[in-house]
Amino acid sequence: MLFDLFVAFVVMKKLIIAIDGPSGAGKGTVARTVSQHLGYRHIDTGAMYRAVALEAVRDGLALDDERAVAELAGRAEITVDGGVVSIDGLDVTRAIRTPEADKAAASVARLPQVREVLVARQRRIGRQGGVVMEGRDIGTVVFPDADVKIYLDASAEERARRRASDPAHSGGQAGQAAVAEAIEARDKSDTTRAVSPLTVAADAVRIDTTAMPIQAVVDTIMKLVKEKLN
Ligand code: DC
Repeated sequence: MLFDLFVAFVVMKKLIIAIDGPSGAGKGTVARTVSQHLGYRHIDTGAMYRAVALEAVRDGLALDDERAVAELAGRAEITVDGGVVSIDGLDVTRAIRTPEADKAAASVARLPQVREVLVARQRRIGRQGGVVMEGRDIGTVVFPDADVKIYLDASAEERARRRASDPAHSGGQAGQAAVAEAIEARDKSDTTRAVSPLTVAADAVRIDTTAMPIQAVVDTIMKLVKEKLN
């Protein structure tokens, strides 16, 4: 009886799991796998910034036109559930993973009004729990009270190697050196911007994934999740 009650509690308790970190740290694969283990939704917030950036470029907006891009972000219907990314009904899953989209996304992510709109959406999506949300500011800004906070990191060299060999990132004729350069530029943009720069939350568990296989990273996170559920 007591055991049944315990199981019911565990089944009902739906956590918010925040996974932050720089590009190429392994957030995507890890967040997806953890969400599958738990039957949670996986929300890739970077894809939201990417989709807005792509639509802004297609609409001919200047990427530093804060008001116009924020308006677009506010009225666009964006879905990122289940690995398919769409904006206003258009499937942009592949289109948002090009080197140009990388740059455009980093530009719009610097705009405070755009962040305000997307953070509000992310809170709406995740507030009921049962979600693994990945990004740069999930544990610091979007859900500072998240149940589990992870900061994934890896050496710049390893992150460039992973990114260069990631088939999801098209337009990848560039060699690893070019990818490393682009990643460095993006790291700089993400960590030095005025609003919500990439930082490690004080209460986040930091995992250096440089020499870790994905499964080991997932196991580490699942252990933390189980501790929380118990
Ligand atoms: O995780 P990603 O590479 O797909 O993110 C795309 C861009 O959006 C990247 O420049 C970082 C930015 N971003 C952000 O500022 N805040 C988030 N929560 C997620 C991504």
